[in-house]
Amino acid sequence: MANTAILKIDGKEYELPIITGTENEKAIDISKLRQQTGYITLDNGYLNTGACTSAVTFLDGELGILRYRGIPIEQLAEKASFTEVAYLLIYGHLPSDKELQDWDKELTMHTLIHEDLKRLYNGFPKDGHPMAIMSTMIGSLSTYYQDSYDPENPDHRHISMVRLLAKFPTIASFAYKKSLGQPTVHPMNHLDYCSNFLNMMFSVPSEEYYIDPEIVKALNLLLILHADHEQNCSTSTVRLVGSSLANLYGAISAGICALWGPRHGGANQEVLEMLLEIKASGLPVKKIVEKAKDKNDAFRLSGFGHRVYKNFDPRAKIIKKACDAVLSRLGVKDPLLDIAKELEEAALKDSYFVERKLYPNVDFYSGIIYRALGIPVNMFTVMFAMGRLPGWIAQWKEMIESPDMKIGRPRQIYTGATNTAYDNAKKK
Ligand code: CMC
Repeated sequence: MANTAILKIDGKEYELPIITGTENEKAIDISKLRQQTGYITLDNGYLNTGACTSAVTFLDGELGILRYRGIPIEQLAEKASFTEVAYLLIYGHLPSDKELQDWDKELTMHTLIHEDLKRLYNGFPKDGHPMAIMSTMIGSLSTYYQDSYDPENPDHRHISMVRLLAKFPTIASFAYKKSLGQPTVHPMNHLDYCSNFLNMMFSVPSEEYYIDPEIVKALNLLLILHADHEQNCSTSTVRLVGSSLANLYGAISAGICALWGPRHGGANQEVLEMLLEIKASGLPVKKIVEKAKDKNDAFRLSGFGHRVYKNFDPRAKIIKKACDAVLSRLGVKDPLLDIAKELEEAALKDSYFVERKLYPNVDFYSGIIYRALGIPVNMFTVMFAMGRLPGWIAQWKEMIESPDMKIGRPRQIYTGATNTAYDNAKKK
């Protein structure tokens, strides 16, 4: 097997090392390319560019495989808790029972947020999007922990990671409560991660709230399925911001903004809104598929297609199955599920989608479960962010702890005006 690639430019040959990953993925190492040749590479949208090596998550888009630290997503979905998966991603191994107990306890001890931070919520309009609120609040946490956010200090790293994981559900639920005008509900230390979040979201002082174990189970599953996905747009954002040695709160705040876009995590909200529109319009799904194919129409089928998966997204498979199970266990009959299934069937039969290998992704069915759990539509992407938080943290930690970490700084090929004198450029 070749371990170098030969590049020929103007008759001169350059040898470039080949790097092979543990799953036999191959890359041509171009780190010395500019130094040796004066050339850079150009790769719009990073379709062929590996930004780092990573031992956190493996995915094979052709085979539809996803593994966290080597463990198949299907097994984690069935057997693990979300905090256990967070530990696995961040520390690289599954925790023992004692380690998990200590980890859960540690997360529980940091769930409260500073009373002054709570006042910030009052500055947002009632209908402000919760992703904007989350990004602001998470970035603002740094102002409360100025003595412990140095990314180069392992103790600071640890406490920042714990605080973020612990406080995220509190901050998210407070954003929701504020939008309703209801009193915020404080975290309860005797509850597990998911139950605590549900309690903060849905309980009110005037009435007892029953935490349904089925809902807890479904939420745990959804958070696990979103927990990491290697170098996607938001994770790359977290790494890029973190590579300047900005503190973790700032890097995660930037990651939240990156996730918000409709081509990324914001797609879960878009899917649900699309399904609601289809239902309201009464249009046959065939018409929607036609619209998605029309190159003169900017509309895309939300929840379909993926940069890496050219086969079924394994997360979508699990969610679709869970959708049926959760809805039937909760006794919910949602016509949107029927529309989604019909739409999927129509798209998968259509040559446009077949040729381009466009399959349902993680966002296609997740919204239907969130809806059944009572989560409002504009909170869907916040749920994605809550799930993705351990992945962002694990990837950031891996980068910061790597001995050859460098600031992320892409190059460009300049295509603008050449040297132009000010007097010539000024409009006469
Ligand atoms: N509906 C209609 N056409 C599509 C769709 C879609 N959902 N997705 C891709 N295409 C077409 C696209 O127009 C292009 O066609 P052509 O070759 O004729 O120009 C071809 O398929 C390739 O698309 P691309 O935009 O070059 O592919 P990409 O890898 O850059 O984009 C994507 C991937 C996820 C942004 C895109 O598939 C998309 O916009 N999907 C809808 C939004 C969505 O569901 N996003 C969630 C992604 S999964 C979870 C996450 O990462 O957050």
